[in-house]
Amino acid sequence: MNYINHYINKIICGNALEVLKEIPDESVNCCICSPPYWNLRDYGVEGQLGLEKTFEEYITKLCNIFDEVKRVLRKDGTCWIVIGDTYGGSGNRSGHTLETSNLNRLTVGYGATGGNVKLTKGYEKCLLDIPYRFSIEMTNRGWVKRNTLIWWKLSCIPSSANDRFTVDFEYLFFFTKNNKTLFWTNEKTLECVDKKPLGTKGKEGVDWEWRLIGENYENYNTKISREDAEKYNSLKARKYRKKEIKKISLWTGHDYWFKQQFEELNYDSFRETKRGKNQPKAKIGDLMSASVNARKSLDGWKINPNGRNKRCVWVISTRAFPEAHFAVYPEGLIEIPIKAGCPEFVCKKCGKARVKIYKTIGKQITKNMKIAGCNKEGKYIGTEQKDYKSAFAQRPSETKKRILKSMSQVKESYYSDCGCNAGFEGGIILDPFMGAGTTALVALKQRKRFIGIEIKQEYIDMANRRITKVQQEIF
Ligand SMILES: C[S@@+](CC[C@H](N)C(=O)[O-])C[C@H]1O[C@@H](n2cnc3c(N)ncnc32)[C@H](O)[C@@H]1O
Repeated sequence: MNYINHYINKIICGNALEVLKEIPDESVNCCICSPPYWNLRDYGVEGQLGLEKTFEEYITKLCNIFDEVKRVLRKDGTCWIVIGDTYGGSGNRSGHTLETSNLNRLTVGYGATGGNVKLTKGYEKCLLDIPYRFSIEMTNRGWVKRNTLIWWKLSCIPSSANDRFTVDFEYLFFFTKNNKTLFWTNEKTLECVDKKPLGTKGKEGVDWEWRLIGENYENYNTKISREDAEKYNSLKARKYRKKEIKKISLWTGHDYWFKQQFEELNYDSFRETKRGKNQPKAKIGDLMSASVNARKSLDGWKINPNGRNKRCVWVISTRAFPEAHFAVYPEGLIEIPIKAGCPEFVCKKCGKARVKIYKTIGKQITKNMKIAGCNKEGKYIGTEQKDYKSAFAQRPSETKKRILKSMSQVKESYYSDCGCNAGFEGGIILDPFMGAGTTALVALKQRKRFIGIEIKQEYIDMANRRITKVQQEIF
């Protein structure tokens, strides 16, 4: 692990492919970057990426760089890439439209390649689908594609084109290196192990416990005693009971390190339903306000105070960057990937990341949850107004049941422990196209570490000035 320390919190000047070759295998937790887009601008440096004769050549070169990224990424690592598209040359300045050539950048046309129509002959006016071609080649080379995320720019540059729509988004791809279980955490002992644990074949109370698995959500996964387990399991009981009991493993498998991010619930997720016989209709928004209010009123409780799992379209405002770099992404765009894809704590000795583990420690029914349609046991008692079941349609009441169930559980969070007792430090984020240093700034603000590569010394100086300022503010 020591060798990697040469690179920590530094930006190395050079060609990404060459510099990456010097970085040790499986040494970084996360990679996030925005490579130069094809045929967009000339950074004026020998060896720069983006000026290849064909987009095929560009994609091959880019993927060769990501082969090296894959080697230096830990097995449980994540990789996030912001990449824009290009139109085939249509005779003007470049294949890029005003929206894509300017993006969030300060200067229109500044540094643009000058529009080499020859490069895209036969594709005039055609979107070249470079992000897709790149993404497919990445998966061909063994990356696991987990999400296509859309960076929606509410304040995009208007376009005067009258034969197509205005492009107001860019792609952010989320890849991982691995898709097989790599490590397991135990919700009782908080252990984190690399070897497959015994699970339900192991020791009761350590590897597994009896749980009641009801047909209804309100009973799902409720822990029960051994005596009750025996009672439920008797032949006679089995004949009549609707519920089942099962041995449930206390171990959870993980393919890579990922911390779910959340967003506010939104009104449109819920439709009107009746709350039961002779009950007033639950108004649209009851559940929403119940959720918000319940979370507010539960502030003093240690429960997961989040909304729903984060969706894939992210509205992030673009920001003008005052210095002479024209391809800087906004900090807001990479805050989420860095939170979700790079651990806050990794062991100083073994490098293993800590994983957050939630334990249910009690039950809680609030007034607002009752307004949203649950009874005093926390069971949702609404009835659907349409026959979703026979239409094989998604049932909103099932969603409500699940939400109310999770709101009723009071949870405490813990961290897994590798057992080294060597202390912890922030995970490492790699950016092989560091530009003006935005990735480094966000990494430091989240108390994580970074490794940067950039081909142009002028940009490194610019990045270092920004980094020093942030370091002074936060340390
Ligand atoms: C889109 S910009 C990255 C901007 C950065 N995300 C930021 O917010 O400042 C791409 C950067 O890659 C650099 N670059 C181009 N070719 C490179 C190469 N072969 N190796 C390393 N860096 C390269 C360019 O100089 C440019 O600064």
